[in-house]
Amino acid sequence: MKMEKKGLARSDVDALLSGFEEKNISFGSGRVFGSMCTAPHDYALEVHQRFHESNLGNPGLCAGTSEMERCVISMLGDLMGYRDATGYVLSGGTEANITAMYIAKNRSSGKKVIFPRSVHFSVLKAIKLLGMDPVPVGLDEDFRMDTAELESKIDKDAAMIIGVAGTTELGAVDPIREISDMAEGVHLHVDSAFGGFVLPFLEEMGMTDDRVGPWDFRVKGVGSICVDPHKMGWSTIPAGCLLFREGHPFNDLAVGSPYLTSPKAYTLAGTRNSGAVASAFALMKHLGREGYCDLVRRCMGNTKYLGKRLEEIGLSKVMEPVMNLVAFHHPHPERVQKAMVSKGFYISKVCDPPALRFVVMPHVTKDSIDRMVETLRHVI
Ligand SMILES: Cc1ncc(COP(=O)(O)O)c(C=O)c1O
Repeated sequence: MKMEKKGLARSDVDALLSGFEEKNISFGSGRVFGSMCTAPHDYALEVHQRFHESNLGNPGLCAGTSEMERCVISMLGDLMGYRDATGYVLSGGTEANITAMYIAKNRSSGKKVIFPRSVHFSVLKAIKLLGMDPVPVGLDEDFRMDTAELESKIDKDAAMIIGVAGTTELGAVDPIREISDMAEGVHLHVDSAFGGFVLPFLEEMGMTDDRVGPWDFRVKGVGSICVDPHKMGWSTIPAGCLLFREGHPFNDLAVGSPYLTSPKAYTLAGTRNSGAVASAFALMKHLGREGYCDLVRRCMGNTKYLGKRLEEIGLSKVMEPVMNLVAFHHPHPERVQKAMVSKGFYISKVCDPPALRFVVMPHVTKDSIDRMVETLRHVI
């Protein structure tokens, strides 16, 4: 394709856009069951548009949005047991994990990153980028980091340990308190990119079981946490938050930025989206804890319903869901996934154990579950 010498009329461009739009699968179609993102709340979208032009990479021009960023971090710090947490709003869990890992490496003489095998692949990406040494740890029968194996792997070369509060594939929560007890001063980072907007509300409603222990800053050894408003925070993309307990993370990445309004730049990205920051701020203020409890309760109800419907067609769960994510044993998940795509349904898979995976996000309803299950019944 070439750019025209003389531009097209908007109506002609709109026709082109419609062609592209038709190829996308919208969350509202009721056909997406494998995504950790969702259609944002209407109000989040409206606020995003209103604040989209400020660039947080040049904060002197958007002092208001910068202040909202600090408010988002302190609201989340408060929710996660440490209201004096510092940090920033980045593009998502990947950037937050890369940044946390850079900071841990910067503050340590070691290069080893110890993590459960269930860790999100963004950690492996960061290991490549940062030249760190991967130390994977196996899982216990509840798909949580095996602490006996962990203990044998911590040594003086460890720069950090990563625990996950809401694993991507199964939604398991690592035993963060036990991990913290073993960490002995090694930086402990908790990846709650998905779980961070679910677990606090499950706890508030008394909906967790004994597979979920304390996982946030209430555990003394937790040094940093990442959590994404653009997943279960119901906010707009791109928004992922990185929170630190000690030592402002701004100092670790700082470089001079002489032509901008602040003397130093502190984040991996230069120009930074701020519509999503305002959107996360506004939605947290608007929904409050009660609003998020309602959302999580609805998603958990639909997860239970999905579980029941799939058991009716002969599938069995890999584990009882902890969060709004559930997987079912199947010897050939890839084949089933492909067949479902050919019928217009987007489900996901787990490799180990082989399983079909479903994320029950806010856009998933009982009606859409019924339609998907009917198709899945024919496919399997
Ligand atoms: C636990 C966890 N961490 C990190 C990420 C990466 O987040 P993002 O895709 O927003 O960069 C994900 C994505 O699903 C995740 O589930």
